Amino acid sequence: MSKTSIKPTNDFCPQTLFLYGTYDDEGRPDFGLFCWFSYVWDGELGVMACIGGEKLTKENIHKHKVFSANLVTEALLPLADHLGNTDGHNPEKMNPNLEIEKGRVLSVPVLTASPVSFELEVKQFIPLHDGEVMICKIRNVLQDDALTDSAIPSPEKLAAIAPVRTTCNRYFGWNGADLGAWGEPGEAF
Ligand SMILES: Cc1cc2nc3c(=O)[nH]c(=O)nc-3n(C[C@H](O)[C@H](O)[C@H](O)COP(=O)(O)O)c2cc1C
Repeated sequence: MSKTSIKPTNDFCPQTLFLYGTYDDEGRPDFGLFCWFSYVWDGELGVMACIGGEKLTKENIHKHKVFSANLVTEALLPLADHLGNTDGHNPEKMNPNLEIEKGRVLSVPVLTASPVSFELEVKQFIPLHDGEVMICKIRNVLQDDALTDSAIPSPEKLAAIAPVRTTCNRYFGWNGADLGAWGEPGEAF
């Protein structure tokens, strides 16, 4: 296969999307959309996440050292796109009526409509020039009851929850369908 050298990009490398939930000092919940999320091994499964620049999510995580990561599904995409394109300091960002519950182990806001939520505690902050990597301990995983039913095969469960993937500045459904450019699905908000 003949190849072309281009500048750094992760185009054509799909990523899973998560909404990170944090509380501010007044206990107000904030959610932001993130894809630089993966896993580490340190005697047990952990999470690594990168936040670029300054944002409310980062401020809140620095204060409390905890956050939730809620899997984004096709049903959640319009809301997720809004939360990924609106600054947390905008007082109207969290106006949409979200059903939020508290984590079972950590004091983090969890999105009820997300079928998989991690409750994460940051163990290590690694500051970069204009970003920060956080190494996190998974303190709890919340899964919809339907996902814990061992009688249903995982392909069927995945098709039912339909996680969204992103690359090339666009969103894609679990079956590969084009779900629009960043900023489009959330226009309704
Ligand atoms: C598809 C998508 C993926 C994103 N992934 C990240 C990410 O991995 N890291 C990051 O720092 N910002 C990411 N962002 C930007 C944040 O979602 C955005 O800055 C948002 O305002 C953060 O919420 P907050 O302002 O309430 O903290 C992403 C945005 C979009 C639309």
